[in-house]
Amino acid sequence: MIRRMKRARFVLYLSIGTVSLLLLVILFVHTQCLRPSISYYQILEESIQNRRPDDRKYILLYTNFFGNRNWYLRAETVGPDFFKSIQCPVTDCVLTNNRELLNGVSDYDALLFHIAEPWTYSLFEKVPKIRSPRQIYVAANMESPAHTKHLLEGDHDFFNWTMTYRLDSDIIWNYNYFVEIDTGYIVGPADRPQWRTGWENYFNETLLELVQGKTKMGVQFVSHCGAFSRRDELVREIQRLMEVDVYGKCGTMECPRGSPRCAQMLTEEYHFYFAFENSLCRDYITEKMYNSMDSYIIPVVFGGADYTKFAPPRSYIDVQQFKTVHQLVDYLDYLARNPREYIKYFWWKEHYRISGDQPFCQLCRKLHEIGAQERTQYYRNIKQWWFDGACERDARIKF
Ligand SMILES: *[C@@H]1O[C@H](CO)[C@@H](O)[C@H](O)[C@H]1NC(C)=O
Ligand SMILES: *[C@@H]1O[C@H](CO)[C@@H](O)[C@H](O)[C@H]1NC(C)=O
Repeated sequence: MIRRMKRARFVLYLSIGTVSLLLLVILFVHTQCLRPSISYYQILEESIQNRRPDDRKYILLYTNFFGNRNWYLRAETVGPDFFKSIQCPVTDCVLTNNRELLNGVSDYDALLFHIAEPWTYSLFEKVPKIRSPRQIYVAANMESPAHTKHLLEGDHDFFNWTMTYRLDSDIIWNYNYFVEIDTGYIVGPADRPQWRTGWENYFNETLLELVQGKTKMGVQFVSHCGAFSRRDELVREIQRLMEVDVYGKCGTMECPRGSPRCAQMLTEEYHFYFAFENSLCRDYITEKMYNSMDSYIIPVVFGGADYTKFAPPRSYIDVQQFKTVHQLVDYLDYLARNPREYIKYFWWKEHYRISGDQPFCQLCRKLHEIGAQERTQYYRNIKQWWFDGACERDARIKF
């Protein structure tokens, strides 16, 4: 009797326990899974229903670019057709220097200011009087800090974005890019570019013959003498050990820029093209290096950039990787005497091509990005961002 009662109580407890457990599970499933998912879907559904057609972005070229009102574009105003013609991923933008295209200056989505040259008018007079909080003021510059002639002192809390050759800019405005031929991807410049390998065993009979016909050593083109990087002195030091022909205003020889004869001469006669920058600044590499890469000549580069971020391995020789001018010249001599080693510097040409710059593509795309529209940002002290720690006075190679 007592045993049976115990058993009945046990069964009762067991069923109460099971039912409570079941209820808990249902409650859990209900609160954790079912209820919120319904409202999440609703929010998403509403946002899809209310999506606005992407509106066109208007970019005003507010200052000139080295005296050119159009920044060297084809017309005063260019629109989506222009962005399509340069194959931008996003094309719904208008670029203009016409301040009357829209009702007021504060209606433009972005204003571009060129900061390499002094603005010919006082900033406080001519800066737009009304500024809409959603407008983006862009500081554009392709020159190094050594050639930034606009005083940035007065520009506290003024610029929202930067558009320069520096890799930490909001929009990177580089001279050229390395594009992988197979995929069309831009590989460099980038902070951590994924370059291919394969130069070690590179061989090409045609190139070997071509290189064996070269008779001269170094060539340099300079039009701006006495640069901050002391490149003229460096070249003079090198000239004590090997021959370097210097063309242009700072040299003794002449060859009109862009003439076919000049380009031919690089491929057929010279071994090394000296692409020395005017200042040693972070990320600062000008068109000199890229232009020489169209020919079959090795660029010997001198600048403040980490060149591995900009060009494939074995496509250039970085002067700053040598301790002394002697060591550098020894290596150049070695290559000139060993054409099979010399031609390995052309291995990349079968995998990459060099393409021109399209900063306006990036600007247009970034203006359309939802992140950029939601975020507020500006440079408290643009002068500090641009100058501090950006350039070196002394080179790493001794001369
Ligand atoms: C050798 O190089 C030339 C010039 O770049 C190129 O046209 C040719 O296809 C290359 N030959 C081989 C066998 O790769
Ligand atoms: C642009 O910068 C100004 C400060 O100069 C700021 O008031 C404004 O909110 C910024 N706009 C955006 C979209 O970041």
